[in-house]
Amino acid sequence: MQLEYHCLKGVDFKGHEMEVFRTVAEVQEKCEQIRFSGKSLAFVPTMGFFHQGHLELMKAARKIADKVIISIFVNPTQFGPTEDFETYPRDTEGDLVKAREVGVDIAFVPSVEEIYPEGFQTMVKVQGVTQHLCGLSRPGHFDGVTTVVAKLFNITKPHVAVFGQKDYQQLTVITRMVKDLNFDIKIVGVPTVREPDGLAMSSRNSYLTPQQRKSALCLKKSLDLATEMVSRGKRKADEIKRAVQELILNHPFTKIDYVSVCDPVTLENVDVLRGNTLLALAVRVGKTRLIDNCILSPSGPE
Ligand code: PAJ
Repeated sequence: MQLEYHCLKGVDFKGHEMEVFRTVAEVQEKCEQIRFSGKSLAFVPTMGFFHQGHLELMKAARKIADKVIISIFVNPTQFGPTEDFETYPRDTEGDLVKAREVGVDIAFVPSVEEIYPEGFQTMVKVQGVTQHLCGLSRPGHFDGVTTVVAKLFNITKPHVAVFGQKDYQQLTVITRMVKDLNFDIKIVGVPTVREPDGLAMSSRNSYLTPQQRKSALCLKKSLDLATEMVSRGKRKADEIKRAVQELILNHPFTKIDYVSVCDPVTLENVDVLRGNTLLALAVRVGKTRLIDNCILSPSGPE
């Protein structure tokens, strides 16, 4: 396996080389060398099956550091027992080509055994901000995320790590963990990348049938409706939530997991919009669970 990926080393693609590592020991040594040479390192953790959203994170990372490392690892501990770990889409070879094209220097592609060897028994748990939104509908999910991200931070020891605002709560949880556990890493958020018709890019969009794909537009339409209501002076969270719920349920195949109007830092529900407020949605379209969010600004766009 290792050799197969190492073949990519030295392949010249648009003048750029990328090194691929499968083991913790090797990648740790490589990252250590980079730090020792005085260069800055930016890290983009992913579960692969890249779309433009992932690639924008990597491009952002390139702009802020000398070297960019990504990880591709479908992390079993963040999937619930009835969730899609086994069927989660994977295309490592294609991902490596895409990553190299956008100028990634190092890709870490470990096996499950490499990250969770026999005897593994430590978890990292953030409280508070995980007790809302996806934390309620996906119990244990964020424990899996923070555990694997903490491990990956310790393995790569980056100066900066880049996350998407599409997973707003994940970004919040990681920011909290970094602060609470004194990781010396700057966390950078990148705006959500969308398809031309507004659907937020997601690896899980590949599960949608053409008809479900049309219905999935209700998420972005809801964000736009709420933004428009706020610009017309609406301030009551209940009124906004009701309008959003109605819009979503008018689309076929949809089932609402949550529609939340909440504080963008604590993620606690708000009744009346005073300052910037988060509108976060999780909707099942058929069997596919999609999320999206936006910031509602009563005082107009920032
Ligand atoms: P994954 O879903 O592969 O996402 C990797 C990164 O890409 C995350 O930071 C996510 O927020 C970002 N991303 C996904 N879709 C995006 C979009 N449309 N626009 C902008 N950014 C987008 O999130 C995970 O993996 C995992 O939980 C992980 C952090 C890797 C831990 O296992």
